[in-house]
Amino acid sequence: MDSIDNKANYRSRALVAGYDAERRIDKDDYVNDREVGYFTAQIRCLVGPAGSIVDMGAGTGKLSLAFARLGYAVTAFDQSEAMLERLDAKARAEGLSIACRLGDIVADAPNHPVEPTHDAAVSSRVLMHVADPDAMIGHMAALSRKGIVLDAPRRASPNRLLVALRARTGGEVYRCFDDRALTGSVARQGLRVIDATPIFTLPIGLHLALGNKPLSTALEHGLAFGRCFASTLFLAAERQT
Ligand SMILES: C[S@@+](CC[C@H](N)C(=O)[O-])C[C@H]1O[C@@H](n2cnc3c(N)ncnc32)[C@H](O)[C@@H]1O
Repeated sequence: MDSIDNKANYRSRALVAGYDAERRIDKDDYVNDREVGYFTAQIRCLVGPAGSIVDMGAGTGKLSLAFARLGYAVTAFDQSEAMLERLDAKARAEGLSIACRLGDIVADAPNHPVEPTHDAAVSSRVLMHVADPDAMIGHMAALSRKGIVLDAPRRASPNRLLVALRARTGGEVYRCFDDRALTGSVARQGLRVIDATPIFTLPIGLHLALGNKPLSTALEHGLAFGRCFASTLFLAAERQT
């Protein structure tokens, strides 16, 4: 196991203040639309049009708010008070009610079988940052009656080079995952993978820098043949009965 554990970075109020703008969250944005679109489509398959969702490492609420707007009962779980305060303020401003829970996905993972409390668990851009990804997947599986949906940066993509560069020059180093190792880790939690889709042939940072949804859409469409090197694996898995 490597020593990656980036949770402390996300407690910084300065980071949280700039988080949404830097990632174009709440904008009409290509990357966020693809991400949220994947999660909502998979949850509709797993759970149906209504139910309860726990968003693990919810941050400022990219997924939590999207699910709450669709009428799901949402719990936002995160270890950063600053992130959850921001999420709560955004939810209140829209008249939405989201339950916020402060906790550590890894340290609070149950080490014995527990009664699931939600229909499904979702998580975006978190597995890459935690100290123990298997424990996080186990925690998500334990909380969910029907299944889980998550994403992770792929080793078979330029992400690996970016991370290697950051390790030398500075910047946040995150974990990249081998597709088969990740699906294997999910399967070991008693879940059956029902979808695993690589998305974003071009780096996410490039799309964010362009800030041009029609252009990004056209570029990704034209480069679909290179999808085997896409940066992120999006994965949905159902609980086996
Ligand atoms: C890159 S942000 C992603 C936030 C949000 N899911 C999104 O897609 O915008 C990572 C989030 O995971 C949270 N996080 C990281 N490690 C965690 C842990 N061990 N327990 C709980 N939350 C954690 C951080 O506090 C942060 O809010």
